[in-house]
Order: sequence, then C-alpha cells, then structure tokens
Amino acid sequence: MLEHLSVLSPDPILGLAAECRADPNSNKIDLTVGIYMNESGVCPVFHAVREAQQQLVADEITKAYLPAAGDAVYLQSMKSLVFGDELVGDGSKITAIQTPGGCGALRIASEVLAAAAPDATVWISNPTWPVHIPLMGSVGLKFETYSYYDPASHGVDFGNMTNDLKGAKKGDVVLLHGCCHNPSGADLTLEQWAQIADMAEAQGFTVLVDLAYQGMGTNLEADVAGLRLLAGRLGELIVAASCSKNLGLYRERTGVALFFGKDTQTAAATHSHGLGAARRVYSMPPAHGALLAGRVLSDPALRASWESELSEICARMIELRTQLSEKLSEKTNQDFSFISREKGMFSFLGLSVDQARGLRKDRGLYMLDSSRINVAALNEQNMDKVVEAVASVL
Ligand code: LMR
Repeated sequence: MLEHLSVLSPDPILGLAAECRADPNSNKIDLTVGIYMNESGVCPVFHAVREAQQQLVADEITKAYLPAAGDAVYLQSMKSLVFGDELVGDGSKITAIQTPGGCGALRIASEVLAAAAPDATVWISNPTWPVHIPLMGSVGLKFETYSYYDPASHGVDFGNMTNDLKGAKKGDVVLLHGCCHNPSGADLTLEQWAQIADMAEAQGFTVLVDLAYQGMGTNLEADVAGLRLLAGRLGELIVAASCSKNLGLYRERTGVALFFGKDTQTAAATHSHGLGAARRVYSMPPAHGALLAGRVLSDPALRASWESELSEICARMIELRTQLSEKLSEKTNQDFSFISREKGMFSFLGLSVDQARGLRKDRGLYMLDSSRINVAALNEQNMDKVVEAVASVL
C-alpha cells in the first residue's frame, strides 16, 4: 500500500533548517526557525526552569497519566498569565485544555470550533505562519485570507485588512496573532484591536488568537493588551497559547487552548468538547513541560527570576533589531528602519525569492524564501556577515 505514496515537499521552515544543518559550509548562518539564541548561539534554558526541573526531579513520585485536561496548577497559571486576574475572576467562564505545544492548542481549538460551527470559514492573515492552514484545515475548516502586511510600507495594511474582514459573518472565525506577528513582526496597535472589537460586535464573528510570543515583543502585559481588550468587550474569545518561546520549553511541547466564554454552561459544554478532542487526538498531554511551567509561574521566587530573564531577552531582541536596521540602512543606503519598529522574532528583509535562495547557495545564509529572518538568531559574531551578505544582493 505505502508504495503508492509520493514524496511530499519539505516543510518550508523545518525543511530549510534541516538543509542548513546538512550544509558543510563552516560559515553558514541559520536564520530559519524561530528559536531564541543567546550571544553564544545557544538556545538557553531559563534559570527558573532549570531550578524547577531540579525540584521536580527530586519531588516527582509518579509518571501516571495527567488528567486529560492537564495539570491544574499549570492551567490556572496560564489563565491568569494570558487574561490577567481581573478578567479571570472566579475562572468559571474560562475553559482551559493543556496541549502538546501551541500547535496542539490550535488543533484542539479547531476541533471545538468545527463542532460548534461546522460551516465556519476561518479568516487568516496574508501572510501567516505556513502551518495555520494545513493544521486547522485538517479538521475540515474552510479559509479566506485578509490583507495584513503591506510590503511597500513595511507595516500593517489596516485599511485593506478591515475592508476584507467586512466579509466575515456570524459563525466565522477571525484568526489574529496576539503579538509578534509571524512572519512579518508587524503588530496591530491597541486602537486597531479596538476597531476589530467593533467589527466583531457588529458582524458577530468569533476571534481566535494565536499567542506564541507573550513577553517577547514589548513585555508580558503589553503583548496581551489587545486580546484582553477583545475578551473584555466581546465576552467570548479563544486563545491558543504556547510556552515554547517565553519559557524556552520548545522541545517539551507545552501549550494551552483557552476558551473565554459568556457563561458557566457554555464553559462546561466547551470543556467537554475540548476533552473529547484531546482524547481523539492524543488522549493525555505530556506532563514535563507543564509541570515546570506551573512551578515557575506559581512560585514567587521562580516567577520573579523568569520575568527578569524574559525581559532581558526581550530587551536584547529589541537591541538586535536596532543594530540590524541601522547597519543595513547604512550599508545599503536603503531604509531598513521598519525592522526596529517591528516586534518579536521575525521580520521580512524585503528580498525576492531568488535573492533569498542565492544567499543560501552562495553565502550559506539561510532565511525563508519569503526573506523572513529570525532576528533572535543574530549575535555579534554573525551580524556584520549578515549585513554584508544582504547588501551584496541589493
Ligand atoms: C517558526 O515559525 O519558525 C516557529 O514558529 C517554529 C515552527 O514550528 O514553525
């Protein structure tokens, strides 16, 4: 049977990272996958996570399954990290399902959405993370795209975005990136989030927020101000959150699907659908990452250490953006100041596919075909090499 299968194209992100790993060029630079790298080119373990891990190894007495919904301390901590204590209130209107990473959260959210509104169309930003459509499409949801990024101005094309979203109707879902838009780094302002809330109220669509970078754009609070505004105004919001980046738990696959609902009855029904979906797809979530995240977020000393390290990381990424934008502008006589206005790990350099591929082949500089780079993989060693290589094709 399997001989009938044909070979699929490699994943546009992971495939390139594998190509880079296999490249024997000792000067290669990998700006493909979104992973935070420190000045030594290592993706570090947060001090608080390391400490929590030592505690966990010493304390852990069982490897029995977690409940299908996940670890209670982790779930409570994530509700409050994302929504804040005021919106959480007594928590009875919020359903939380611990998931294997942010992808798992998107999948559980999609399963619940497909159960609630099988004919829903999901509106996705153009461009978006390339996995959104295959991942959410795997439960049978349909898609439309809305304009988002204007390559000419290097910013959000809000006029066309809202124009396109006029087509989103009651029963449709609009997927927004909570912060640090992947792949563009161009985020909505709070005023623009408020205008989306107006549209959602008037048109009746539901908003799903993909939140993979809380704390990596501006800070833990500012990065969720938009989604909190929506939750407060609309009374209904779905969030797929990930701890891969902000807690450095990439390989531990730690995420959560959060359903902010209007009443406790809706929350109970949503919870049952979330549990059913989890059981169908993977049964119970992996424990290790969530147990670490739960400890870090709920223990005051570990929490303070994590927050301080996260804000240093965020500040370093902002500094890398400033340096890259200044060096590129100076070297090319073109305006790259947009890089310092954008947020999080990613920005487009504005190169053509041929230029991006040429840099890969001729210089060992790996970025996506779209010229998306992972700013968080730059450092003092590779910054000038990147600037020089990019300038050579402009
Ligand atoms: C990325 O966009 O590079 C990250 O979100 C990692 C991934 O899974 O694609």
